[in-house]
Amino acid sequence: ALERTFSIIKPDATRRNLTGKINAKFEEAGLRIVAQKRIHMTKAQAGKFYDVHAERPFYDELCEFMSSEPVVVQVLEGEGAIAKNREVMGATNPADAAPGTIRAEFAESVGENSVHGSDAPETAAIEIAYFFSGIELVG
Ligand code: CMP
Repeated sequence: ALERTFSIIKPDATRRNLTGKINAKFEEAGLRIVAQKRIHMTKAQAGKFYDVHAERPFYDELCEFMSSEPVVVQVLEGEGAIAKNREVMGATNPADAAPGTIRAEFAESVGENSVHGSDAPETAAIEIAYFFSGIELVG
């Protein structure tokens, strides 16, 4: 089915001018960028976004990193977009990511891993609504 997923190009990637290369990977995989903007989150905004990880030992470091520099938030649309995006990103830890994936090619570490993508339809809907209003989604 035609799906939408939420994606973030993280500070380690925007800092190295990798936005275009990462978007090319999405588009080559058949994912359409239907909304996109560059923002600089406060630590509190990053904290709310990653609330599900609040009890994890890396939570503070994660929120510091995600608010350290600008990110690009985006909505990707396509057939099975959630799974397809996860395939194109590769495993969370770049050491485990398959060759050719975004994280294998660009990620610096498990924390600074270049991209975030929603893991399920429910989280995709919540994450999209956190950053975008309906009028910004141009299918
Ligand atoms: P993301 O998909 O953005 O969702 C949660 C993030 O936590 C994850 O990608 C990783 O970048 C980050 N993360 C996971 N494990 C660790 C870890 N051990 N240390 C630092 N960050 C981590």
